[in-house]
Amino acid sequence: MHVNRRTFLFLSAAFAAGCAAPGGPNFSSARHEKIISAGPAAQYLADGVYARYRDLGFFLVRRGAKLFALSSICTHRRCKLDAEPDKTFYCPCHGSTFDADGKVTESPARRDLPVFEISTDAEGNLLVKISAS
Ligand code: FES
Repeated sequence: MHVNRRTFLFLSAAFAAGCAAPGGPNFSSARHEKIISAGPAAQYLADGVYARYRDLGFFLVRRGAKLFALSSICTHRRCKLDAEPDKTFYCPCHGSTFDADGKVTESPARRDLPVFEISTDAEGNLLVKISAS
């Protein structure tokens, strides 16, 4: 197996996570960051909101050539958001809403949703680095 620098860093994070949180599909580090593999990047080519990782803390959003990861956790009191058919986000706890870019459109939330860094590994899998906010 050829291991480039990116793969080495990913495997190092995975090893560290295995020591800290065995059994989970995600990888934690001591800095409260997680790197989650979202599978082949090629499965996110169609425009839309991909909510399959909502429970792990993020939505993937494809809009044209742009693909980004938005937090799925409300910035008010950390409830999980629902993705709406119009590609906005709704918090069922106290009614905050966010637009398709994660900007607050209805309080009580005041902070926009964090956008997480994404990358791909050598095999073309999408990696999302989420951090506690
Ligand atoms: S936790 Fe989302 S509006 Fe309060």
